[in-house]
Amino acid sequence: MQIITTIAEFRAVRAAVHGALGLVPTMGFLHEGHLSLVERALSANAQVAVSIFVNPTQFGPNEDFSRYPRDTDRDLALLRKEGVQWVFMPTVEEMYPQGFQTYVEVTGVSQGLEGERRPGHFRGVATVVTKLFNIVQPDRAYFGQKDAQQVAVIRRMVADLAMPLEIVVVPTMRADDGLALSSRNTYLSEEQRSAAPIVYRALMAAHARYTAGDREPEHLRAAMLTTLHTEPLAKVEYVSAADADSLEELTASSVRPILLSLAVRFGRTRLIDNLVLSQSKN
Ligand code: PAJ
Repeated sequence: MQIITTIAEFRAVRAAVHGALGLVPTMGFLHEGHLSLVERALSANAQVAVSIFVNPTQFGPNEDFSRYPRDTDRDLALLRKEGVQWVFMPTVEEMYPQGFQTYVEVTGVSQGLEGERRPGHFRGVATVVTKLFNIVQPDRAYFGQKDAQQVAVIRRMVADLAMPLEIVVVPTMRADDGLALSSRNTYLSEEQRSAAPIVYRALMAAHARYTAGDREPEHLRAAMLTTLHTEPLAKVEYVSAADADSLEELTASSVRPILLSLAVRFGRTRLIDNLVLSQSKN
């Protein structure tokens, strides 16, 4: 496994690649969810590159950029074990050199949900992902359904800007109690960690209503809220039942796939999760 820290070095390596190249962009502090993306990439591509870069432009001024968890040695050991060929690990200066002033902005799908609560977040994501695509030039790039709006933004960007690669979306990996794996779970105290599966149970409560035939978005949102309110440590930021493609909040029942999503705080830690409901699957 080769560890590459500069754009010039990656370009040299890229020029010699034969066969399909898969890219898994990450911010490190890897867990089984990240590794499921890596394994999916390894199964479909001759070569796989994983990027590890905690991207400052996608964090708001009051967010956790400086305290975002980092453990490079552990990450590299995990990726070596998986059989990854390249790890691209640039510095902030390499990605955002002095004088940097170009950003990629996806409008519509970036605006609600996370985009509304985290202004500038998706601009940072779209910009860094574009730059990673330009450096790595992958044939396929892998993203987790865990960040459903991120997937929608990247898909829109790739289509709108005719980026020559395939986007592959991998299902959310969960702990046995349903909590979606996330690098941020490490912030949770023991007590908060025991309370956190309420997030998944809220999605399941809405799912149960849906499968019982209730397609009213207001009822689906209410089912999530009622469940969340049973847990005093859970502070709800939002619950949403939106059109799974446009991400517009639903006001009337819909036969199209519905994206249930929510953001919940446990102390200072903000967790997000989601579930897509569609009639064909239920
Ligand atoms: P990060 O949070 O490190 O996540 C990297 C990738 O792993 C994302 O595509 C995310 O959706 C996926 N992932 C996270 N938890 C997952 C889980 N439990 N199951 C399946 N996949 C999971 O998302 C980012 O980094 C950044 O925004 C990035 C795309 C790297 C741009 O900076």
